Amino acid sequence: MAFGSILQLQVGELRLELAPLTREVMGDFVSPGIQSAHITRYLETSAKVLEDEYEWFDKIRTDTTSITWGVYILRGAERELIGTTSLHHLHKDFFYTAGSGSLIFKREYWGKGIASAIHQARTWYGFHVVGLDRIWSEVLHGNPASRRALEKSGYYVTHVKRNVKFADGKLRHSDQLECINPSDAVWKRWWGSDRPGKAAREARARTQAALDWASANVTLP
Ligand SMILES: CC(C)(COP(=O)(O)OP(=O)(O)OC[C@H]1O[C@@H](n2cnc3c(N)ncnc32)[C@H](O)[C@@H]1OP(=O)(O)O)[C@@H](O)C(=O)NCCC(=O)NCCS
Repeated sequence: MAFGSILQLQVGELRLELAPLTREVMGDFVSPGIQSAHITRYLETSAKVLEDEYEWFDKIRTDTTSITWGVYILRGAERELIGTTSLHHLHKDFFYTAGSGSLIFKREYWGKGIASAIHQARTWYGFHVVGLDRIWSEVLHGNPASRRALEKSGYYVTHVKRNVKFADGKLRHSDQLECINPSDAVWKRWWGSDRPGKAAREARARTQAALDWASANVTLP
């Protein structure tokens, strides 16, 4: 699948575009970007250099198990790359599933609702365009903004994995989250004869709200 189609959305004053990366912008990730420990402390990544970015670009460009977007701020004809988001580990078995992740490597853009909005757009794309049944994600404890942004777009915590990474001075657990396609057909097939708990039912309502928001606010140029 490689790259996702262009999606445009408004977040407060900012016009955002999720669009394919290009080789020319890969240097923007590097310095300080993902060479900064503030940015990567809750991620499974080391400080990268330009050559790593080119390698990663070549890998994702032809990867059939992931869909990646660059996150750009639009200013007239200008675009500024500020991050990336993806659906990865696409896998078709009894259900069609994928993992998800996001990175905003310019700290000045944190706390403006950007991750929350791009998760909603990506969830809409995953369920509406790709036809996924379930999207999962993992958030290290100590990264509440990431967990909150996912919960706002319909994910909920299914369980905790203990002691998965040493970060910021201590061993960290991680929350495992999932977002089930809220359509009646998928929902019934996923839960079968089980009764979903309160957290799952509340998450379904949030997922539907996220999809409604994306349907009204995401434009496909
Ligand atoms: C995690 C990350 C994606 C969040 O992006 P963001 O655009 O700043 O997130 P948002 O602005 O949408 O904020 C999400 C929510 O978290 C809340 N939040 C932000 N910082 C918080 C904190 N320290 N404690 C609790 N909540 C916090 C926000 O208030 C918002 O909730 P609200 O809308 O109910 O007020 C961004 O910080 C990032 O890229 N970090 C580095 C990479 C990373 O950790 N990626 C995630 C890996 S799982």
